[in-house]
Amino acid sequence: MHIVANWKMNQIHEPLTTYFNQLKKLEDKAEIIVCPPYLYLSTAHNLTHDDKIAIGSQNVASDHHPSLTGEISAQMLRDVGVKYTIVGHSERRTMLAEDPEMIRKKILCLLDIGIKPILCVGERADDNTSGKTRQVLEEALESTLGTIPPSQILLAYEPIWAIGMPAPATPTYIENVLGILTEKLNAMWGGDARKIPILYGGGVKPDNVAEIMTCQGLGGFLCGSVSLKSDSFKSLIQTVIAQPSK
Ligand code: PGA
Repeated sequence: MHIVANWKMNQIHEPLTTYFNQLKKLEDKAEIIVCPPYLYLSTAHNLTHDDKIAIGSQNVASDHHPSLTGEISAQMLRDVGVKYTIVGHSERRTMLAEDPEMIRKKILCLLDIGIKPILCVGERADDNTSGKTRQVLEEALESTLGTIPPSQILLAYEPIWAIGMPAPATPTYIENVLGILTEKLNAMWGGDARKIPILYGGGVKPDNVAEIMTCQGLGGFLCGSVSLKSDSFKSLIQTVIAQPSK
């Protein structure tokens, strides 16, 4: 299981040392990946490099070329110990107009450097009500991954309507979408598609995570608000690792 903390642009209300100390010794049965804002990556790495907690970033430049004012390259991320990077989060797609071509370029830059991309895909509420969920998800995979080899990629399914909400999608709903994604990945890559862990994100909390884990084939979680406090994130991790694996 991969459990990813996406702090977004939040400042957490406890010292980083306290936060990471709380997570120590929890990592054995799950790959814990914490993605703070860029400014804290280096400190986070220094606090965790003796442990198995991996540090991820929330973004990367779409080019290696240095003439990109204000951007951070994949090489720079690797230099500060980043192992994973979230790409294609719906907030960046909608508020910063990130298109599939840009997301694809980011994935290629990351793979060049040896950082694992966590690609987010998900449908809006109106895609769902108009019966377009399958089409939207299939297009999202094709347009961003296309012929890119699947090894080293993690996929995070995040229904946009569940992000930041108190409740996640139901297990039945998630399982149905996992089926859609798996079918499409198989069509794109055949047996190699099995290597791609599919995570769920959107409204995940310690009190609902066990229910979501009943979904067949789920590879982990991408967590926003619950990851901002070490006690709630730790409680979520403990609940996940206490469940029998499916
Ligand atoms: P949430 O956010 O856990 O607060 O719903 C998830 C995300 O946006 O990755």
